[in-house]
Amino acid sequence: MAAHEKFNFGSLEELRGKIAALGVEIALTEDLSPLKNSVRVGHLTAPNAMAVLPMEGCDSQPDGSPSELVERRYMRFAGGGAGLLWWEACAVAEEGRANELQMMMTEKNVGQFSELLKKTNGEAARLNGQQHRPINILQLTHSGRYSRPHGHKAAPIVPQHDPILDPRVGLSPDAPVVTDAYLDDLIGSYVKSAKLAREAGFDGVDLKSCHRYLLSELLASHARKGKYGGSFENRTRFLREVIDAVRLEVGSDFIIACRFNVFDAHPYPYGFGVDKDDFWKFDPTEPMALVRMFREKGVGLLSNSAGNPYYIYPQVTRPFDQSSSGIPVPDEHPLESVARLFAFTRMIQQEVGEVPVVGNGYSWMRQFAPNAGAANIAAGSCRFMGLGRSSFAYPDAPRDIRERGAMEPAKCCISCSKCTQIMRDHGSTGCVIRDAKVYGPLFKQYREEAEAREKR
Ligand SMILES: Cc1cc2nc3c(=O)[nH]c(=O)nc-3n(C[C@H](O)[C@H](O)[C@H](O)COP(=O)(O)O)c2cc1C
Ligand code: SF4
Repeated sequence: MAAHEKFNFGSLEELRGKIAALGVEIALTEDLSPLKNSVRVGHLTAPNAMAVLPMEGCDSQPDGSPSELVERRYMRFAGGGAGLLWWEACAVAEEGRANELQMMMTEKNVGQFSELLKKTNGEAARLNGQQHRPINILQLTHSGRYSRPHGHKAAPIVPQHDPILDPRVGLSPDAPVVTDAYLDDLIGSYVKSAKLAREAGFDGVDLKSCHRYLLSELLASHARKGKYGGSFENRTRFLREVIDAVRLEVGSDFIIACRFNVFDAHPYPYGFGVDKDDFWKFDPTEPMALVRMFREKGVGLLSNSAGNPYYIYPQVTRPFDQSSSGIPVPDEHPLESVARLFAFTRMIQQEVGEVPVVGNGYSWMRQFAPNAGAANIAAGSCRFMGLGRSSFAYPDAPRDIRERGAMEPAKCCISCSKCTQIMRDHGSTGCVIRDAKVYGPLFKQYREEAEAREKR
C-alpha cells in the first residue's frame, strides 16, 4: 500500500505515470466513444453507457414523497443526459428509514412520484434530444443497523450482533436481533414497494444489498441462528425469496436489479467476501456464487459496491482526498482504492456475461473519469460508467462528454467529503462546493447543530 495523496494531475500522461508507479490496474484511453454506446438492459435500451449512481439527499417530505430539493436533484440528473438514472435509496418500511426525510413510496404518494418521473423524462428529452429516454431504476432499501426514522436517535434493527459496530449505534449486546417472522413479513413490503414503483413508471427496482444496511448485513450474518443465518444458503435466503416474490408480482418486463457489497472490509464472522484471517484480503468464493445466483434468477442489472461508509474505512466505498470528521487518513493511495473497485466490477462483469454491470469509484478521477470509464467498457470490464458524487457536483457531465468530448475540471467533484459530512450531521445533502449557493449555508448550519449536540 502506498501513502495517501490528494489528486494532483494536470494531464492524462501525469495520471498514467502515477498509475504505473503504483503498479495498479487502471486503463485509460483517449477514445471516449464507448461511453456513447447504447446499452441493452433486459427488454430496454439505455441511450448511452453513463449512469447516475444512487445518491441520497435525505430531503424528501416527511411522508416520503418528493420535495422541491428532490425534484431539483432529479431534474438536474435527468437533464444531464446519462443513459441510466439509478434513483436513491427509498425505504420499504417506516421503521427502516435511514432518516426521517428518506424517500418512501406509499399508496398515498405514488402519484407524486409518477408526476416527477414525467417531468424528469421530459427534461431528459428537452436537453438531450427527443429520442433520449433514460432507464429509471428505483433503489429499495431497509436501513437495518442504520435505521433512524425519527429525529436524531438511532433505532437499529440488526440481524446479528457485531462487537465492533454495535457500540457505534448504541446497541447493547443483549438487545434482541430481528426475528425470522419480521423478515418473513418484510418480503411483502419489498413486493408492495416494487409494485408501487412500477405503477409510478419506474423501469425496475434495485434490492439494495450494500453498505451494511439490512440486506447487506444479512449476507454477512454468519453468527445468526435460524433460516436466515449461518450457511451461505441461509444468508442469501432473504434476498432469493425477495427476488422470487417480486418477480412473481411484477412480471418479466420489469427490471430487477441489485446493488450489492462484494467485499465488506470487515472481520469474519461479521464480514462478507473477506478472508477469514485477514479482512483486508478479498475472498471471491461467496460473492461470485451470489453473482451466479443473480444471473440464474434473471436479475437484469447489477452494481457492485464495497465497504461500510459509516465505519472508519469509507475509502473502500468512495475514494477521497479529504475525509469527513473522525475518519483517519487511509493507509492506501486513492488510486489503489479506485483500482480495487474497478477490479470487483471487472470480475463480476466477466462472470455474468450479458447482464450489464454498472462500475463505480470514478469521481475521484475528476476530468479523467471518462478516460477510465471508456477503457473499462472497451475492455468488457463493465457496461456502464457509474457516477456518484460527480453527479451531485456536475450533473451534466454526461452531456459534456457526449457533445464536447470532455469534462471541465472546474466543475468536477473534488472528493472533499462535505456531502457525506452533511449526512453524518443528519442534514439534507448535495454538493457543498459546486452547488454552493444551496448547500454551502446548509453545510454550515448542520455542522453547528451537530457540534452543539455533541457538546450536550
Ligand atoms: C452523499 C452520498 C449519498 C449516497 N447515497 C447512496 C444511496 O442512496 N444508495 C447507494 O447505493 N449508494 C449511495 N452512495 C454511494 C454512491 O452511490 C457511490 O457508490 C460512491 O459515492 C462511490 O462513487 P463515486 O466515487 O462516483 O462517488 C452515496 C454516497 C454519498 C457520498
Ligand atoms: S461536496 Fe461536492 S465536491 Fe465535495 S465530495 Fe461531495 S460532491 Fe464532491
